[in-house]
Amino acid sequence: MTQDMFSLTGRVAVVTGASSGLGLGFARALAAAGATVYAAARRLDRLEALSAEIPAIVPVRCDVTDDGDRKALVDRCFEESGRLDVLINNAGKPGPPNAEDETLDGFQSILDLNLVAGFHLATYAVSKIPSGTATSIINISSVIGLVSTAPIGGASYAASKAGTLGLTRELAGQWGRRGVRVNAVVPGWFDTEMTDGLFTNDKSAGWVRRNTMLGRGGIDGEIDGAVLFLASDASSYMTGQTLVVDGGWTAR
Ligand SMILES: NC(=O)c1ccc[n+]([C@@H]2O[C@H](COP(=O)([O-])OP(=O)(O)OC[C@H]3O[C@@H](n4cnc5c(N)ncnc54)[C@H](OP(=O)(O)O)[C@@H]3O)[C@@H](O)[C@H]2O)c1
Repeated sequence: MTQDMFSLTGRVAVVTGASSGLGLGFARALAAAGATVYAAARRLDRLEALSAEIPAIVPVRCDVTDDGDRKALVDRCFEESGRLDVLINNAGKPGPPNAEDETLDGFQSILDLNLVAGFHLATYAVSKIPSGTATSIINISSVIGLVSTAPIGGASYAASKAGTLGLTRELAGQWGRRGVRVNAVVPGWFDTEMTDGLFTNDKSAGWVRRNTMLGRGGIDGEIDGAVLFLASDASSYMTGQTLVVDGGWTAR
């Protein structure tokens, strides 16, 4: 059956940044497709509320910038479930929009969150997965990883999100023969906590509408299908790629 290709029954997934926004949607979508989902973020109360609603979601308090927290997340997944089939590196945030306002420490901290954390989660997880096991790693980048979005965006954010795309291709190249697929998803503009203010301000909301081919920002659920596709066997011959879900923003 065609829909079986998208089934995640019996699979185990880790989603970082699952307490709000896009990551919350990914956790819901993967659980709905049959996966057990380890939902990670710092706001444990939100994850526990989600787990109360959807028992297949396991809440895990995790600061992905903390080395010990990252290892504990992956270790717990293997200890409790014995496997990790899907890793979604989604936790992230932007820095200041103007380069001259970025301190070196601040710049580094955005790279640590948006790029280094996902690299370490991926390498640590793969070190525990037997070679030959079909695995899907999905890194959440941004349109700013492909094009400048000035005046909204930021240097550290752009560097981290472009770096994510290079990292995706390189890990895909290194791990393809051992069964690990690595792909990236590039979201356009979605109304989340991170973009708070963008859609309520007439000027910035108009800027999004004018520059997006579909004439609007993305709405809840419109990126979940891309992630489910990459997580599942429906994309079994796809690796090292970037799937852009931006309403046409980067195609102009
Ligand atoms: N929304 C958009 O338009 C858009 C566009 C392009 C790319 N993206 C990317 O999509 C991803 C999700 O963003 P979003 O829009 O859904 O924003 P969001 O609603 O602010 O969600 C960010 C998530 O990251 C988590 N997080 C932040 N710092 C963390 C840390 N140190 N450790 C663990 N978790 C952490 C947050 O959870 P806690 O605070 O509970 O830890 C939250 O769950 C990000 O990588 C973002 O760059 C979003």
